[in-house]
Amino acid sequence: MKIRTQAVHTGVNIDKTFNSVITPIYPTSTFFFDEIGKNKGYDYTRSGNPTRAALEANIAALEGGIDCSVTATGMAAITAVMFFLKAGDHIITGDDIYGGTFRLFNAVLKPMGYEFSFINMRDPKAYKAAFKKNTKMVWIETPSNPLLNIVDLQAVIAAARKAGALTVVDNTFLSPYFQKPFEFGADMVVHSTTKYLNGHSDVVGGAIVYSRKELQERGRYLVNALGVSQSPYDAWLVLRGVKTLPQRMEAHQANAVKLAEFLEGHKNVKKVYYPGLKSHPQQALIKKQMKGFGAMLSFELNTRKVPLNTFFKKLKYFALAESLGGVESLAETPWFMSHASMGPEGLAASGITKETVRVSVGIEDAGDLIADLNQALKG
Ligand SMILES: Cc1ncc(COP(=O)(O)O)c(C=O)c1O
Repeated sequence: MKIRTQAVHTGVNIDKTFNSVITPIYPTSTFFFDEIGKNKGYDYTRSGNPTRAALEANIAALEGGIDCSVTATGMAAITAVMFFLKAGDHIITGDDIYGGTFRLFNAVLKPMGYEFSFINMRDPKAYKAAFKKNTKMVWIETPSNPLLNIVDLQAVIAAARKAGALTVVDNTFLSPYFQKPFEFGADMVVHSTTKYLNGHSDVVGGAIVYSRKELQERGRYLVNALGVSQSPYDAWLVLRGVKTLPQRMEAHQANAVKLAEFLEGHKNVKKVYYPGLKSHPQQALIKKQMKGFGAMLSFELNTRKVPLNTFFKKLKYFALAESLGGVESLAETPWFMSHASMGPEGLAASGITKETVRVSVGIEDAGDLIADLNQALKG
């Protein structure tokens, strides 16, 4: 089955009562037993729910995993994955990961005894040198948020495997439509389904996708034990959104390519970060591991010519908002908003500046979006 068919059909046909075409929402906290030890596969919604199971089957199929747990938020998924480890374990990750992930690692888990190396994951020397005896996990975000740096999945995963460390890929930015980390040997894939998988900015959610049984068993145990599973209502919304993932991704990307080219040619823009531009320095890697470029782009605004606040205030179609991956375009400043929790040092190390603007390109008319950017860039 091809991904467009998977997105529409996988997991959805579970109503044997009235044959509804759309998966019903089961808003129940508990399920009765026919007799002791005999039920219909569900006992309590924290542990399992048919609506949630439909979404889990769908996302597992899209990623090519064996199973999936969907969680209350993307951070809930990441938190659950970190419970595969314990105090004293060492984790290697990028110095330019999503600010909320950095905050969990640096401000919550580090004081609990987890060890982290935040490094330049594009540099083979840096990641090879970072492995230690107690390295248990390599956390990969590619393309990175917000500077769209690409990590070599095959090479990093091979190095991790040699060291006996688990590899987890946050595939939120590209979605399985444009990148499948399991094809490069990843152990687990996580998502903030808040973003492209749902695609309509009306729900928060997360997913952990498993490549093999032992991880599936531990992951499912942890999601239940920690109590981070997703509500049936929210799972239903994501299931509705995910059906149009392929079509939305194509529309998002077509717009993003046009906007990136326009921005690159504008005199008040110093630099554009977008994998679909020839100026992106990692062309070979992009070709090797990505089926598309996605629709997240960032750029350095010449704030002497166009003050940051003026730019955002003048925009009509780009809401000044965090998050990404919805059908509507958003723009924000990572320094002051999405990545502020990294602190000035972390921000500087990652290459983010006060002039960096991150854009989540929506599916509106490209001409309208470009005209809007053009008037805002006049300052
Ligand atoms: C790449 C990435 N991973 C994880 C998350 C966290 O997801 P959530 O906000 O759904 O908890 C985000 C949120 O912005 C993100 O951009």
